[in-house]
Amino acid sequence: MDKKNFWLTLKNKKQPILALAPMAGFTDSAFRQICKKFGADVLYSEMASATALYYSDYAKDKASRQKIKNATLELLKFNRRQEKYYVVQLFGSNPEHFAVAARIITKEIKPDGIDINFGCPVSKVIKQGAGSDLMKNLPRARAVIEAVLNNTDLPVSIKIRARSGNVDARQFLKTLSDLPLAALMIHGRSVNQGFAGEPDCDLIKEARKYFSGIIIANGGVNDLRSAQKIMKASQADGLGLARGILGRPWLFQEIKQHQEIQLSVADTLGLMLKQAQLQEKIKGAGTIIELRKHLVWYVKSLPGASRLREQLVKVESLDDLKKIIKDYQATI
Ligand SMILES: Cc1cc2nc3c(=O)[nH]c(=O)nc-3n(C[C@H](O)[C@H](O)[C@H](O)COP(=O)(O)O)c2cc1C
Repeated sequence: MDKKNFWLTLKNKKQPILALAPMAGFTDSAFRQICKKFGADVLYSEMASATALYYSDYAKDKASRQKIKNATLELLKFNRRQEKYYVVQLFGSNPEHFAVAARIITKEIKPDGIDINFGCPVSKVIKQGAGSDLMKNLPRARAVIEAVLNNTDLPVSIKIRARSGNVDARQFLKTLSDLPLAALMIHGRSVNQGFAGEPDCDLIKEARKYFSGIIIANGGVNDLRSAQKIMKASQADGLGLARGILGRPWLFQEIKQHQEIQLSVADTLGLMLKQAQLQEKIKGAGTIIELRKHLVWYVKSLPGASRLREQLVKVESLDDLKKIIKDYQATI
């Protein structure tokens, strides 16, 4: 594994590793490319279902196999030159499904790494015993990790919570310490905390005792100050940025350069348009509707944001977006 272990290449640069954390519905190829331009070192995909990939190999008829496979692989495709280093994240709970999924991803997507989700609290995920529910089931969690390790030559990483039910990160990592995992992203909040509150940086720091790979601290990195505070307190090798970069992907650059950036209104709108254009190029005309949630983040702190937001949530085409931007610029 070491030959291809990009995590070690990044660690050798002796700078905090900055990762775009996985966000379903947000971290698509267009947004990943934008984050890369602002200095993200590692780009996680949206989570993809290991079970869907498994059934794409085993479903009864060929047409439904192909349909399932195409939809999942479409979600995961990437631009090798613009998205270095790219990690595909899988969720599920069945080791056999992960084995098949790891083989398909390695052969057909060829990312730089594969990550396993142990943190998602969404009910449709935990109902399958996946995400944060899998973190509670130590034997099954181990079997899933082994299934992935045995079916790929790519570096394998995991993303966990500080605690899920009765299992905390220490216990979880202790039972896995013999496995050759390349990296760990810890969302420093328990499942009970959800997405609010401070991350437990002491716990992330303590993870070092139980995990010998790269450690990425996640949770609450919303600006330069919080990034510096969490890096210092957690002593991690890097940071995973999630909601903090929505509508302000230049936070990666701020952290890299240790300096705040004030993007002008025109530059913010220009960046928003650039992401829309990139998305249409990648996903096709008309897909801008999927981008509405990103658009509202971009304008969150602009003057007259609420009126702008009302228009952006109705945007149907690139031309609509250009018109909204033009009209808005005429009023400021
Ligand atoms: C909309 C949304 C989607 C998310 N999707 C995923 C996902 O697919 N996989 C995952 O491991 N975490 C997912 N997360 C969790 C984030 O990666 C991250 O752990 C969490 O938001 C905490 O970081 P933050 O406080 O910087 O936002 C998601 C979070 C949000 C807000």
